[in-house]
Amino acid sequence: MSYEVTIEPLGVTIEVEDDQSILDAALRQGVYLPHACGHGLCGTCKVDVLEGDVEIGEEASPFALLDFERDEGKCLTCCTKPESDLVIEADVEEEPDAANIPVRDFVGKVIKIEKLTPRIVGVFLEVEGDEVEFQSGQYANLHIPGLDTPRPFSMAQSPNEKMVLEFDIALIPGGEGTTWIHNELKVGDTLEFSAPYGHFFLRTSDDKPMVFFGGGSGLASPKSMVLDLLESGDAREIILYQGARNLEELYYKDLFEELALKHANFTYVPGLSGPDIEPEWNGPTGYIHEVAKEHMGGKFEGYRAYMCGPPMMIDACITMLMRARLFEKDMFMEKFFNAADAEAESKKSPLFKNI
Ligand SMILES: Cc1cc2nc3c(=O)[nH]c(=O)nc-3n(C[C@H](O)[C@H](O)[C@H](O)COP(=O)(O)OP(=O)(O)OC[C@H]3O[C@@H](n4cnc5c(N)ncnc54)[C@H](O)[C@@H]3O)c2cc1C
Ligand code: FES
Repeated sequence: MSYEVTIEPLGVTIEVEDDQSILDAALRQGVYLPHACGHGLCGTCKVDVLEGDVEIGEEASPFALLDFERDEGKCLTCCTKPESDLVIEADVEEEPDAANIPVRDFVGKVIKIEKLTPRIVGVFLEVEGDEVEFQSGQYANLHIPGLDTPRPFSMAQSPNEKMVLEFDIALIPGGEGTTWIHNELKVGDTLEFSAPYGHFFLRTSDDKPMVFFGGGSGLASPKSMVLDLLESGDAREIILYQGARNLEELYYKDLFEELALKHANFTYVPGLSGPDIEPEWNGPTGYIHEVAKEHMGGKFEGYRAYMCGPPMMIDACITMLMRARLFEKDMFMEKFFNAADAEAESKKSPLFKNI
């Protein structure tokens, strides 16, 4: 059985199966609805239910959807299933650079697992069947055997490579999925996944220079985006700030140094935050927002900033960028949320829609 869900103010109606989330149905029908974590943790997909009945879903974290919001008729589209035809109101803006590629299911065979750092592995999946179309910065939901909810990981390769996907996956202490990936997954195994998800993509329709911030495995999306821009011959100024704790954790340094030599418009600035920085390091030290501030003399006016990594890193970058005269409309981010972060994350400021 399916229900009709009308999304205002778009005035678009989608079909949602009774065991399907509203978000899943919309994305599979090429209709964009705001989302980030995809499983009840971040609150990005919150909408108002104007008409009809819903099942809110046990996955909805009490921190992402507060009690009074439930009472007011709000829900998280990533966990909510319709129980009748619905009218919902979502905060959707027209985005000239959004491709709105419909989400699809895929199967991939693991062809390589590379230890990128002591805590990050690169998992390379060869897709069986059709190519995976995505915009650089987007992510896939990987289905991990034995776990009820899929886990989100960003594509780290250029979007021009559609048959072999790279995921750079950090081990989360106590994390079921990442522990399985690090300890059990092997070459030759197959993994089911769906893609592409997310609103973190390049805004190339103007020629503003771009700065990227990648912390830990949060380098994945900026890597894909920088490769995308350079492969397409984009001539604007591009700066990549990569943060890691020490040299061992600073992966793909050689790749970006080579790219910086080849492309005059690309600058690569790695920074180490310690406490265990190797004595041979003579580059910048400090958290990545401090390294960037120092590098740019505290002035980011006119740039567009793309940030990816742990929520705390992104919050520190936003604060620095706002002091450096960058506005909300020029900041884009992918917070690498996990279940523990959902509890720790403070409520979004009502002053800002995206950050
Ligand atoms: C859009 C997006 C893209 C991402 N891309 C990447 C990427 O490219 N690379 C990458 O490395 N990571 C990425 N992440 C983060 C990654 O998805 C998580 O680290 C991963 O899902 C954790 O899965 P897990 O099963 O190992 O951990 P989980 O089992 O989900 O647990 C995570 C942590 O939370 C704790 N925990 C579990 N349940 C609760 C609870 N109810 N309350 C409090 N704490 C709890 C666990 O002990 C553990 O410490 C991304 C995240 C998002 C949202
Ligand atoms: S996308 Fe629904 S709560 Fe994060």
